[in-house]
Amino acid sequence: MCGIVGYVGSQSATPILLDGLERLEYRGYDSAGIAVIASDGSLQVTKTKGKLAALRELVASAEPVGVVGIGHTRWATHGRPSDENAHPHADCHDMVTVAHNGIIENYATLRAELEASGHILRSQTDTEALAHMIEDELRQTDDLAEAVRATLARVTGSYAIAVVSRAHPGTLVGARMNGPLIVGLGKGENFLASDIPAILRHTREIIPLDDGEMVELTADSVRVMTLAGVETRHAPTHVDWDIEAAERGGHSHFFAKEIYEQPDAAHKALMGRILTREPEPDLALDALDGLLASGRLDAVRRVTLLGCGTSIHAAMIARYALERWTRLPVEVAVASEYRYADPIVGPETLCVAITQSGETADTLAATRLARDAGAPVIAVTNTVGGAVTRLADATLYLQAGPEISVAATKTFVTMILTLYLLGAWLGRQRGMLPEAEQRQILHALMDTPELMRRTLESLSEGPNAAALSDAVTLLKDCHSALFVGRGAGFPLAMEGALKLKEISYVHAEGFAAGEMKHGPIALLDEVTPLVAIATASATYEKIVSNIQEARARDAYVIAIATEGDDSIHQHADTIITVPAAPEAFTPLFSVIPLQLLAYHTALARGCNVDQPRNLAKSVTVE
Ligand code: G6P
Repeated sequence: MCGIVGYVGSQSATPILLDGLERLEYRGYDSAGIAVIASDGSLQVTKTKGKLAALRELVASAEPVGVVGIGHTRWATHGRPSDENAHPHADCHDMVTVAHNGIIENYATLRAELEASGHILRSQTDTEALAHMIEDELRQTDDLAEAVRATLARVTGSYAIAVVSRAHPGTLVGARMNGPLIVGLGKGENFLASDIPAILRHTREIIPLDDGEMVELTADSVRVMTLAGVETRHAPTHVDWDIEAAERGGHSHFFAKEIYEQPDAAHKALMGRILTREPEPDLALDALDGLLASGRLDAVRRVTLLGCGTSIHAAMIARYALERWTRLPVEVAVASEYRYADPIVGPETLCVAITQSGETADTLAATRLARDAGAPVIAVTNTVGGAVTRLADATLYLQAGPEISVAATKTFVTMILTLYLLGAWLGRQRGMLPEAEQRQILHALMDTPELMRRTLESLSEGPNAAALSDAVTLLKDCHSALFVGRGAGFPLAMEGALKLKEISYVHAEGFAAGEMKHGPIALLDEVTPLVAIATASATYEKIVSNIQEARARDAYVIAIATEGDDSIHQHADTIITVPAAPEAFTPLFSVIPLQLLAYHTALARGCNVDQPRNLAKSVTVE
């Protein structure tokens, strides 16, 4: 995590850096800082513990003026959040300053060497070592890029860095290894950033750096090279994202905006894939053509879905349909566990790496392991050019637009949709899914955006809005809540619980409803409600029995049920209904009331919805 931004040009750097950091706060926000080479040639570092607002206050009292600078918003790894641990970090003489995202794994050795040779380190971070090492290298060379390269040759770990030096006032240097970094090309100015929204106001011409590359920027030049010093060429990519797409668009929070964007996001995820040719739709996943042509899918006998957090819940939900449609065993593996478990993986395993950011360290490491074992890899991600795409043989983009709120919403539903597209495609390729059944799936997928829209509408007024409000009134004062479901409703319950705990800090856990009686039921009482996913399904009767077991223990029951289900009123205290649809597709919109439950509970508890404590949008450390 952490976000970095850099500027070199002729405008005042400070507002550009602050604006860029604001758009990167989702990457971490426990401290922030900027360093500007001021017009008098001094290096001015302004940094503080706390959010960007605290930095803005400091800057307002003494704004550094200069045309070159770097900025950083932090999510602590080495060294607690504090003023001195905030980035950028400088060397002994305040000559060089560095902003860093990642972890320098051999920093303890490097630090000891630096201290032994007389350097005074002022923070507990791994990053500061880099500034002092560059200071040393600049005694051998007066080329800043060369000094950075020589420094990085001694570093192991992951990084994206931005470096400026007051001895090189018109130069900005960046480098990446397992951490995102893009270059933005301007006219008479150039930019560096962890992510596109940070610089979208200034340029739409982007070069994403590859791992093992660095860049030297001046106002008028861009020199990309490998860490070995070999110059490389990249054609810039034009980014046509609507700038408004990265703003809140009328909602109080990105989280709400992104919930309400889900019908549109779902529609976009299907665009160009389901071709609505009359009389029947057709499925085309062009991104998989190369992999198909390679013949490597012929050897596939099983599928492993890899991910973390919300992505693993999307995988768990999709798994049921994928197995049914492809007749391949599908394993869902939590990426942080996978590579330490001596996994069974090789050319016969199709590895599907699911990651919104494309940058989650655990998911990348697990995917690399699978790829190195010979598995064909498909990435499912929202981030164009993200690290996971470089590990993959093919990439299916979510096409959901930028997701800013730390807690995932629209990328969750578009992950399920994309995995369903993959399942329907693979099922046909393998001859396991009859054409007529594939057509039914495509129709159901095409219906999804409308069903999401109806669900959202029904929750804004009438009985569903009243039920939502009742449920929030109860949940906001709870210490704990249990979520249960069966089949795909089980991972959906886990996702509902995750959303609630992530943003409202009410303790919540999701269980397979049948498992309740083996432990979790002991937690139920009149102040611990049960949220039950009780939509129409093959196991509906069974979940009703589980609800009754809970009610017999005085638990208050909030049920998510299907419209027209009159019998549920006998069993639950509060009922939120969603439209009817084939079972596999219901989670795509029955997640919406769960997201809104979390949202309104968080609001009622006065929590910071978009930036929950201790979390980060993109977790680039293991
Ligand atoms: C973080 C985020 C979660 C996300 C998880 C996996 O923990 O806070 O919302 O689900 O990372 O992220 P990914 O980008 O790999 O999907």
